[in-house]
Amino acid sequence: MKNGPAEILSNERIAEDTYEMILRTGIAREVRCGQFVQVQVPGYFLRRPISVHRVLDENTLSLIYKVVGDGTRTLSQTAAEDFLDLFGPLGNGFPVLDEDIVLIGGGVGVPPLVETAAQYRRLGRQVTAVLGFNNSSAAFGEEEFRSLGCDVIVATMDGSLGYKGTVIDAIQAAGLVPATVLACGPVPMLRAVAENYRGYISLEARMACGIGACMGCVVKTPDGGSLRVCKDGPVFRTGEVQL
Ligand SMILES: Cc1cc2nc3c(=O)[nH]c(=O)nc-3n(C[C@H](O)[C@H](O)[C@H](O)COP(=O)(O)OP(=O)(O)OC[C@H]3O[C@@H](n4cnc5c(N)ncnc54)[C@H](O)[C@@H]3O)c2cc1C
Ligand code: FES
Repeated sequence: MKNGPAEILSNERIAEDTYEMILRTGIAREVRCGQFVQVQVPGYFLRRPISVHRVLDENTLSLIYKVVGDGTRTLSQTAAEDFLDLFGPLGNGFPVLDEDIVLIGGGVGVPPLVETAAQYRRLGRQVTAVLGFNNSSAAFGEEEFRSLGCDVIVATMDGSLGYKGTVIDAIQAAGLVPATVLACGPVPMLRAVAENYRGYISLEARMACGIGACMGCVVKTPDGGSLRVCKDGPVFRTGEVQL
């Protein structure tokens, strides 16, 4: 785990309100797929957690983020040669299992699945990526998964790209029967994934410390216990936490 300045190499819009930022940082060499970094956005006290999208080399990684509020808007206004303070990598990422895998991503839950796909493909595993978006303007990532050698299914709620409906509808329509899924996206999507399949889900929560100290990101387990998204997660087994 490291903390320090990272140089922005690029920060480009890739879809509606969605940006890809490439950063030079030694954190890259420690990242496991599904982990995140805490980004110190200039002018804000609390850091913003963002998943690592790709490890490009041992000193370079990329993030994909959506502008949803003031912090991410400020982030979108930074530019190449600016520096950001990064802390990470943090959390427990996705397991790299010795089996073929189905990845399910919704919106800005898609980015951590790209590095995950790259790791499974490196092991020669077959990867099917099922990507869900509200509409075609919000969609990204399809070509990147294809370039890694994955099968890709895209679903949009309005039918403007790919299958019309949810990721679950698209999986069923394609006749896929996944043995294990790895999923990241909004809670309603994760709830549907956990009701239908076994595997691992990556959760989002409001965070403060990011290292398990403040209990600001606690989620409940089915037996009434609690787990911290930042330290015990963000990746949990399906059924391990209440959604
Ligand atoms: C482990 C983890 C990984 C994440 N990875 C990504 C990623 O790869 N790409 C990405 O775009 N976003 C990611 N997020 C969500 C991201 O951290 C928030 O969108 C961001 O912090 C919002 O900051 P803001 O100042 O722009 O918004 P704010 O003004 O703070 O909030 C705007 C809206 O976003 C909601 N929000 C704020 N923070 C979070 C949060 N942590 N989780 C869920 N909703 C939130 C608020 O409830 C509010 O509705 C991740 C979150 C976690 C916990
Ligand atoms: S953010 Fe502090 S314990 Fe998770």
